[in-house]
Parts: sequence; C-alpha cells; structure tokens
Amino acid sequence: MTMLEIATFSPHVERALDEEAARPFLENGNRFLRGERIYLRPLELTDATAEYVRWLNDADVTRYLDTGKYPATRETVREYIRSFQGSRTNLAFAIVDRATGRHIGNVTLNHIDPIHRTADTGIMIGSKQFWGRGIAYEAWSLLLGYAFDRLNLRKIIAGAVRDNVASIRTLQKLGFVIEGTFREEKWVEGRYVDTVRLGLFREAFRPK
Ligand SMILES: CC(C)(COP(=O)(O)OP(=O)(O)OC[C@H]1O[C@@H](n2cnc3c(N)ncnc32)[C@H](O)[C@@H]1OP(=O)(O)O)[C@@H](O)C(=O)NCCC(=O)NCCS
Repeated sequence: MTMLEIATFSPHVERALDEEAARPFLENGNRFLRGERIYLRPLELTDATAEYVRWLNDADVTRYLDTGKYPATRETVREYIRSFQGSRTNLAFAIVDRATGRHIGNVTLNHIDPIHRTADTGIMIGSKQFWGRGIAYEAWSLLLGYAFDRLNLRKIIAGAVRDNVASIRTLQKLGFVIEGTFREEKWVEGRYVDTVRLGLFREAFRPK
C-alpha cells in the first residue's frame, strides 16, 4: 500500500475502529429499552446538539407539529429537555440507532395520570434518512410496552393532524383507533386542518 493509499484509507479505518470501540458503551451506556434496530434512553441535556436544533428548524420535520412555529436554538432545546428532568408524569426518551449510536429522534409519554391510568404520547424522528423504515413503529412499540407493562397504564392517547398519514398508519398498526375528529384545529401550511385523536387500550396493543 502506498503512502497516499494509507492516508486515504486510514481515516475510514480509524472511524470504524472508534465506532467499534464505542459500541459497547453506546449500547449499554444509558440504554433503557432495547429494540431490534433502535434503543430508547432518557433524553439528556447533552442531546441538545446542533443537529437536534436543525431538526426543529426543518419545516419537513415540524410540518405537523406545534414545535417549529418559532425558531429553535440550543437554549430552547435545553429548556425543553430540562422540563422533563425529575418528572414522573412526563418522560422523554432519545431514540438511538443501534448500528451507529446516533440520536435520531425522540418519543415521549406525557401527562401520566395514576388515577385514570392514562397518558399521551408523541414522536419525532428528526433525522429524515430514518423515515420510511418503520422506526416509529419500533420506537412506539418499546414505549407502549413499557407504559402498559411497567407503569401499569390502561389507556394511551395520541393526536395527529389528519394529513399525517405515516403517523396515523403507524398508530393504527399498533392497535390505536380513531376516537374523534377535531375540525380545523390547526394552522398548517396556509390552511386550517382537521386533527384526530386516537386511543389504545392495553388489550388491543399490537407491538412489533
Ligand atoms: C410521522 C413519522 C413518525 C413516521 O415515522 P416512520 O417510521 O418514518 O413511518 P413510515 O414512513 O415507516 O410509515 C409508516 C406507515 O405509513 C405508511 N405511509 C407513509 N406515508 C404514507 C402515505 N403518504 N400514504 C400512505 N401510506 C403512507 C407506510 O407505508 C407505513 O405503512 P406500512 O408499515 O404498512 O408499510 C416520522 O416521519 C416523523 O417523526 N415525522 C416528523 C414528526 C411527526 O410528524 N411526528 C408525528 C406527530 S403525530
């Protein structure tokens, strides 16, 4: 191998070795729920990276979210993450790609109510290259299994803009059913759009 070849080759080798060395740490670090291609761990302040801020300022990602109406900065992201710290009623998890250890989005369980035994859930896969692969189905499967089995919740609620077909389709695959439509609830891309509320009882849950 010539020096030139070594110079071109070695950064890749080094990166591969770094990733290999980092993997056990990434896998075990703060992992909470492990799936096939992803795992969930608590969202931490160090997750407030430039990439995360970019997701929130990307209109494709936030099209159907309330988030994104105002500009995001590292500080607004940190504030959001801080709002979950120490909370037992609102939990935020980072979705991490197991192959690379990359944080690719978040999934949340909010308004956990111990009397009614309900909560609501939301998801954002920020890294668009991970769209279209059923990752939301896997992430929600992990989160909902945890909500039903470990937190002993009874019913989970989700809301979506009616045009958000990928989200609604994923929720329906998990067993959610549409319980109601709210007419012209949200202002999305220049028009008022309907939203739907979906509900899932433990008995109807169909995880991946
Ligand atoms: C919406 C989101 C969660 C979807 O996650 P995803 O894992 O990329 O979902 P997929 O693209 O794999 O699609 C899920 C299902 O919807 C179907 N689908 C997606 N787009 C569709 C379309 N335009 N028409 C018909 N079906 C569609 C897919 O075929 C798939 O169904 P299948 O499993 O039966 O094949 C993800 O794109 C995201 O986080 N977006 C940004 C934030 C957001 O909108 N969050 C949800 C708020 S409620």
